Formats: sequence, C-alpha cells, structure tokens
Amino acid sequence: MFEQLKEQPADKILALMQAYKEDPREDKIDLGVGVYKDAHGNTPIMRAIKAAEKQLWETEETKAYTGLAGDPVFGERMRDLVLGGTVDEATVSAVATPGGTGAVRQGFDMIRMANPDATIHVSDPTWPNHLSILKHMGLPVKPYRYFDSETGGVDFAGMITDIVQARPGDVILLHGCCHNPTGANLSVIEWKHVIEKINEVGAIPMIDLAYQGFGDGLDADAEPTRMVAQSCPETIIAASCSKNFGIYRERTGILMAVSQDPGKKKVTQGTLAYLNRQNFSFPPDHGARLVQMVLSDDDLREDWQSELESVRTGMLELRHQLADELRERSGSDRFGFLAQHRGMFSRIGCGPDKVEALREKHGIYMVGDSRMNIAGLNRTTVPKLAEAIVDVGI
Ligand code: LMR
Repeated sequence: MFEQLKEQPADKILALMQAYKEDPREDKIDLGVGVYKDAHGNTPIMRAIKAAEKQLWETEETKAYTGLAGDPVFGERMRDLVLGGTVDEATVSAVATPGGTGAVRQGFDMIRMANPDATIHVSDPTWPNHLSILKHMGLPVKPYRYFDSETGGVDFAGMITDIVQARPGDVILLHGCCHNPTGANLSVIEWKHVIEKINEVGAIPMIDLAYQGFGDGLDADAEPTRMVAQSCPETIIAASCSKNFGIYRERTGILMAVSQDPGKKKVTQGTLAYLNRQNFSFPPDHGARLVQMVLSDDDLREDWQSELESVRTGMLELRHQLADELRERSGSDRFGFLAQHRGMFSRIGCGPDKVEALREKHGIYMVGDSRMNIAGLNRTTVPKLAEAIVDVGI
C-alpha cells in the first residue's frame, strides 16, 4: 500500500529552517520561520509562563482528561482576551485546539460540514499553510487581491473588487492583525468597509488571529476581530497562543464560532467538540493551562503583558532602524513601508533571485517570497541587512 504514496512538496518555511541550520557561516542571519528571537537570537520562555509552569508542577494533581473542548476556563479567558467582552458570551462557541494551525484546520472542517460548496477566499498572498491545508482538504479556494508590491501597502480597491465577487455562504479568510506574510494591514476604516461588503454579499468571515499583541497592542490588534464579530451574523475565529505567550511547541490555540443567534450555540458547540473528537479527541492541555493561569492571576498577567509589550516595541524599533538605514544607504524613501508594517513579518517585495543572492552572498535567510522575520534582527544586524539589500540591488 505504501508504494502508492507520492512524495509531498516540502514546506518552504520549514525547509528554510533546515537550510539555515546547515549553513556553517558564523555571521548568518535567520529571518525565516515566524518565531520571536531576542537580541541574542534566543527564543526565551516568557517569565510569567515559567512562573506558571513552576506553580503547575507543584500543584497539579492529575493528568486525567479534561473535556473535548478543553478546560472551560481556558475557553472563557481566551474569549475575553480576543473579544474583550464586546459580544454576548451566549453567542460564542469555543474549543481548545492544538495550536493556531489546529484551530484553522478545525475551522475549515466545520465549514466543510456546514456548506461543502463554500469557496474560501484568501488574500493574495496568504500564509502558505492556509493554501496547503485547503488543498489537502479539497476545498475550493479563490484568491483576492491584497498586497500592492509597488507601495508595500494594501491594494484596497483590488481587495474590495474581489471580495464582492463572493457568493452567499462563501468564506472570506482574513488575518486579524499583523498580516502574514506581508506585514501590511487594513486601517479601522478599511475594516469597516470590508465588513459592510461581506455582509452585503452574505459571506462568512473567518479570522486567523495568530499575532495578537505583536502589532499595535493586545486590544488594538483584536479590534478588527471584535468589530467583525459584532457586525456579522456569523464569524469564525482561529486564535493562536504560540507567539504572544511564546509557547510554540506546546501547541495551544482556540477555535471560536460566533453567531448572533444564541439559539445556534448548542449545535455549534457540539459540532466543534465532535470535530475535536474525530480528529484528535482531547486537545493538549499543558500550554492551555499555562495560558489560563497567566490570564487568571493579576500579577502573572501584568508581567506577561509587560514582557509582551517590550517584545512588540522592540520589533517596532528594529523596523524604524531598518527603514532609516535603508533610506540613508539607498538615498530614497522607497523602504518607508517597513516602518508602517506591523507584526513579525514584512514582505520586502523583491524576486526570488534577490532572495537567493541575499542567502548565497550574505548568509541572510528569508522566505522565497521575500518575507522577512523582523524579530530575527538586532541592532547590530540591521545595518548589515540594509547594506546587503542595497548590495544585491533590491
Ligand atoms: C510562520 O509563518 O513562519 C509561522 O506561522 C510558523 C509556521 O508554522 O509556518
């Protein structure tokens, strides 16, 4: 039977991780996979998580199963973190999932159960794994224009023109904040307009919220998601705790389905729990429990927020430094968009030949579509990157 299997294409982001590891150059720079790194290149365990872990080790008395939806307190805390009390809790169904990717996958699964004919409209570009999962599941996909590589911003007119082509019941997949891979985001006014159009065509918004707290702050980053959940009859939200709690390998995320009609909650909640049971049964608990503890304890929560805030402002400073260095070295303002972008990533907007030249000549690793992880930089490597960008003729 196994001889029937075909070789699968390697995930480009993960393959890049491996290539970086194998490069013997000491001054190489990793701007690939979306993992936060401090100025020394380490991905530290956040202080509040470490403290919660210690407390958990001392107090946890059982490893028995939780529930198919995970611990309900995790669900409540995450609902509040993401939705901030802006929607009635009676309208929100939620299940814990293995990471944000698990939530995305379960969300697609729920869509397929509810409406197998739905087309999923995705931004062009989007996180490559969205496309890979959708292809694997056999769901119809249609890209909508998003990134304007001339300006480094959003092609808003193109986006609107494309999303109004959706049919009733189609799904519009949106990045809640810190768009991956481009770093270009909609303004609040633009979000309002997108919501209006989604409602006009009768499509369902699905939000991937993987970087809450990395852009403009915890509440500001959740604002668009909250607006959508308040204004659309139904909203699907896949949120990740990997980045903002720094617990990548613990696989912690949540899938929420919001319906303005509380009468739908029983069946929706049951469907999400059923899908967990079919796919992996109980969701992992360790990371979810740490998140729940941090969000439930005033001191831990304050410490987590302040550490997250320094992560965010640190990345913002690096963005400004890079834009300034590039202005100086290139003698033009054409890289100014790097300071406007938010989150971990920016797409610099060059072809794969230049990305390869950066890797071959300068030991700088970014994803082939010219996405770079800003958190892979530090004050010393920013000038080196700026010099290399100008040197390869970007
Ligand atoms: C990324 O985009 O680099 C991250 O979300 C990590 C991943 O799983 O691809």
